[in-house]
Amino acid sequence: MTIKAVVFDAYGTLYDVQSVATVTEETFPGYGELITQIWRIKQLEYSWLRSLMRRYEDFSVITRDSLVYTLNALGLKHDSAAFERIMDKYLHLDLYPDAMATLTAMKDRELAILSNGSTAMLNALVHNSGLDRVLDATISIDSKKIFKPAPDAYTLIEERLGVASAEVLFVSSNPWDACGAKSFGLNVAWIERVTPEAMALACVKSDLVTPLTMFKALRTQVDELGVTPDHRIHALSELPGLVAAS
Ligand code: LAC
Repeated sequence: MTIKAVVFDAYGTLYDVQSVATVTEETFPGYGELITQIWRIKQLEYSWLRSLMRRYEDFSVITRDSLVYTLNALGLKHDSAAFERIMDKYLHLDLYPDAMATLTAMKDRELAILSNGSTAMLNALVHNSGLDRVLDATISIDSKKIFKPAPDAYTLIEERLGVASAEVLFVSSNPWDACGAKSFGLNVAWIERVTPEAMALACVKSDLVTPLTMFKALRTQVDELGVTPDHRIHALSELPGLVAAS
């Protein structure tokens, strides 16, 4: 089946969520990496817990609340200016270096984002990064009031793009999202940015496991959820070749 649309997860896939570390370290010297990892883990945790509790709040609230948790858990006193400086970085996350070239190379297909991000967050992010120049659609799960990997979230792809799941390649570096998309019935390419070999090396190099190494161990390998993505790639730049061969 020909791939008519390539749909991307945003945070962690097109945009590097680790890039908040510049601002968290600047604001709280010595704590930057620890804040960055706890914040991301809590942000995702809250999206799953609120979905299960049926107490939806949009991803900007989730991102704010998980930052509050993180700073309080670490006993870090802060004023609202410092807090807002960190939050603002979520609207200016670094694009992965190969993102723009990869999407431009696939302009003959429908290109979209499907993200847990709120509509306002995503529109600001794609505008600030210039990715809105190559995207045909930026889809937030907001209207469904439930986060990925809930099946309802993925129904937005056919609803908004008018393409059947069999004609879609969904791309995510977040294993839980790749598994959710596969479970829903999409063709899925998972970006494995950290391999077990690299993890083993990071662990044996020193007896100290850094917060980033711990994060990678928790969030970068395919989860044991009974589904397996169709394709395992290591960078966005592999996608044009993969799609052309489809
Ligand atoms: C996204 C992140 C949360 O949905 O995976 O963009």
